[in-house]
Amino acid sequence: MSQTQKQGRVAVITGASSGIGAATARSLHAVGYRVALLARRKDRVEALAAELGEGAIAITADVTDRDALVAAADRVKREFGGTDVLVNNAGVMLLGPFASEQRDDYRHMIEVNLLGAITATEVFLEQIKDGGGDLINISSVAGRVSGPGSGVYSASKWGVNGWSESLRQELLPDVRVTLIEPGVVDTELPTHITHEQTRQGVQQAYDVATVSAEDIAEVITFALQRPRHLAINEILLRPADQAL
Ligand SMILES: NC(=O)c1ccc[n+]([C@@H]2O[C@H](COP(=O)([O-])OP(=O)(O)OC[C@H]3O[C@@H](n4cnc5c(N)ncnc54)[C@H](OP(=O)(O)O)[C@@H]3O)[C@@H](O)[C@H]2O)c1
Repeated sequence: MSQTQKQGRVAVITGASSGIGAATARSLHAVGYRVALLARRKDRVEALAAELGEGAIAITADVTDRDALVAAADRVKREFGGTDVLVNNAGVMLLGPFASEQRDDYRHMIEVNLLGAITATEVFLEQIKDGGGDLINISSVAGRVSGPGSGVYSASKWGVNGWSESLRQELLPDVRVTLIEPGVVDTELPTHITHEQTRQGVQQAYDVATVSAEDIAEVITFALQRPRHLAINEILLRPADQAL
């Protein structure tokens, strides 16, 4: 058992400034984890760290910036002694019809959702491996089913799924890899969609969302709390009334 585990496990959560990431930070902190909250919005992560108090630190980091992730890993090592859990949660969902006008969105989604998770993992991996750790990758139902307007978002999450399965086999038994694939969850995710007509349509579905970020956080916390001999590798979860 690592030194950090003796003192309470340490979870690093990317995209902890809102939605599923913030809820996961609260949930894990409530069961005794120390949490490092990473996101670009400094004010949001600092406010959450202040709310949680002891055992929570805020780190401003963009997952597309490897130097920022290396600095984050150094700080977590220095202040918490290491990382037991990395939650790759940072993501953007820039839906819309496939067209050249949206090409910046495509690059952005791949860079954040897929490459961001890959980079955070290679940066934190030595710490996670030390003493037995967990990798939680937040994918989506869109990593399993696709439809019009979600092609590149789906591609980014499909990529996360394929990469996660490879890592699962490569890192076992020291590191458990868990893929979380939510359907519609009530967060600010659709507010960033740049294609206006699409944003309005998607927002309508999110306005009546029944599943909360806290619901997802509870499931993540449950998976992490299983005994080390049991790995929950994949959880696909939808609102009870969501068909696709
Ligand atoms: N809500 C859903 O229906 C749903 C369904 C399936 C999967 N998901 C996945 O769940 C994850 C969390 O999304 P959410 O629903 O909680 O939405 P959200 O509230 O918009 O949260 C997204 C988080 O990602 C962070 N982020 C975005 N770009 C970043 C970057 N370049 N570097 C670092 N952090 C970045 C944001 O923080 P900053 O802006 O402060 O950096 C924010 O904290 C995403 O991966 C999303 O694809 C969501």
